[in-house]
Amino acid sequence: MECRRDWPLESKAKMKLEMPFLISLLCFVLIPSFVISHEVITRNQFPHGFLFGTATSSYQIEGAVDEDGKGLNNWDVYSHIPGKIRGGVDADVADDHYHRFEEDIDLMHSLGIDAYRFSISWTRILPKGRFGGVNQAGVVFYNNLIESLLSKGIEPFVTLNHFDTPQELEERYGSWLSPLIQDDFAYLADVCFQSFGNRVKYWTTINEPNHFAEFGYMKGRYPPGRCSKPFGNCSQGNSEVELVVVMHNMIMSHAKAADIYRKSYQAKQGGSIGIVVSAYMYVPISDDEVDCQAAKRALAFNVAWFLDPLIHGDYPPEMRQVLGPQLPRFSSEESNQLKHGIDFIGINHYSTFYAKDCIYSQCDKGKHAIEGLVSIGFEKDGVPIGDPQLGMLVFHVVPSGLEKIIGYLKTRYNNKPMFVTENGFSQKDDGSQLVNELLQDDRRVEYHKSYLGSLKNAIRDGADVRGYFVWSLMDNFEWDLGYTIRFGLHYVDYQTLKRIPKLSAKWYRNFLTNNDTQIGQVPGIQLKREI
Ligand SMILES: *[C@@H]1O[C@H](CO)[C@@H](O)[C@H](O)[C@H]1NC(C)=O
Ligand SMILES: *[C@@H]1O[C@H](CO)[C@@H](O)[C@H](O)[C@H]1NC(C)=O
Repeated sequence: MECRRDWPLESKAKMKLEMPFLISLLCFVLIPSFVISHEVITRNQFPHGFLFGTATSSYQIEGAVDEDGKGLNNWDVYSHIPGKIRGGVDADVADDHYHRFEEDIDLMHSLGIDAYRFSISWTRILPKGRFGGVNQAGVVFYNNLIESLLSKGIEPFVTLNHFDTPQELEERYGSWLSPLIQDDFAYLADVCFQSFGNRVKYWTTINEPNHFAEFGYMKGRYPPGRCSKPFGNCSQGNSEVELVVVMHNMIMSHAKAADIYRKSYQAKQGGSIGIVVSAYMYVPISDDEVDCQAAKRALAFNVAWFLDPLIHGDYPPEMRQVLGPQLPRFSSEESNQLKHGIDFIGINHYSTFYAKDCIYSQCDKGKHAIEGLVSIGFEKDGVPIGDPQLGMLVFHVVPSGLEKIIGYLKTRYNNKPMFVTENGFSQKDDGSQLVNELLQDDRRVEYHKSYLGSLKNAIRDGADVRGYFVWSLMDNFEWDLGYTIRFGLHYVDYQTLKRIPKLSAKWYRNFLTNNDTQIGQVPGIQLKREI
């Protein structure tokens, strides 16, 4: 479906607008579907060679915070500031994956996955960024991990940076706020390509730059905890200015890393390089034209902010119209380099939201240019957009959203190859849940089945999607929410660090082995009460 007009009624808009672009992008967003298909989903319905996997990230699972020469990173410092993390916890130990990676690879092997997406801890490799040496013990750790994966037939799918940056760079020049980070990131990438690239065929540079920039520099919920009112409550920062600066530095950092891969490694190593974006779907809250336009702006301000520069060589026109000269310009040299920036798009998709226009309507939230003049919500007339997830309050189960966001990317980026690099269901653990309840995760099983059904439809309609990674292999440190949210296929007991497969782990294994046995209950586990 297309919106009926482009950027209507600009004269009424409060802000000064640039010349409207008459670009008519498809608006794939009709009425959200509440229907969950009960048709059986099987692995055989996916293309030959399609990669199924699980995903994690270094800070969320590794622990071993100061072992074997690792330097301090932004999260190591931030998580120890009182009041920053729910429950006052940190990830100094987390899942202790650093010492238990072989056991964790056995879990993956028992699931039957093809690929494992993990990230490299920057300060394990480069404790002080480029202002210090390479920590060989860190290189050895990831070499062992990669070798062990390959020996079990599991393809490593490696993210260079997943929210963690050296504290050294924060203190020297403000980390992502400074263009100096581009050279540091390029250096990290170079060291990693050189050390691991003979065995790693899938690289992604930065995980969810759009989410990290928003939470670190606009809302102030992630390190360095910077923001300004009304976007958050921080002692320092400027949400509207810094978000734009950080996104720009992340885009250029990606470009420099990708350029190094293209020029020095790709031909001999034969791998590919991409980026992973947080990719929510946005649907108009009404069938008013202005809300359709608002949904288009929401998509532009979320996924296209990062992807347009890397594929089209410039920021989205929908953003330029709103932000005007506040948005940086790329030189033609930069623009050309950017256009060859990615071989594939990694999509992290968790939920779908409603978009409501804030140009012609009054909005409490969303009235600022930096928000795209669109108000984002998950309810319409008090009715949620889908069944709520049990953990993250804003996430709802809207399987059709995956098909729609893939459709949007397919059209906008000429069907560039895609991987669903994260998709997952959150459970709440505030201490009142029984372990058995958390193990009996039927809702998670239904979530993955229904999203895989939606993915299957997208592929049937021609989308070039090549893999699907469940977030996550196991429960882990969920950033500022600490250990109160569980996304794992495996339950982790944070006292003993024992991993226990949930119902969903058993379901995934059966799905991957084309075993159509129905899994009803976690075998051997007696439920203490009905759920
Ligand atoms: C803002 O942060 C300050 C300092 O941490 C705190 O005292 C205050 O209660 C916070 N205000 C709100 C509205 O959360
Ligand atoms: C299929 O799944 C069931 C239930 O998990 C299991 O008992 C059985 O051994 C599996 N069959 C095969 C061939 O793996």
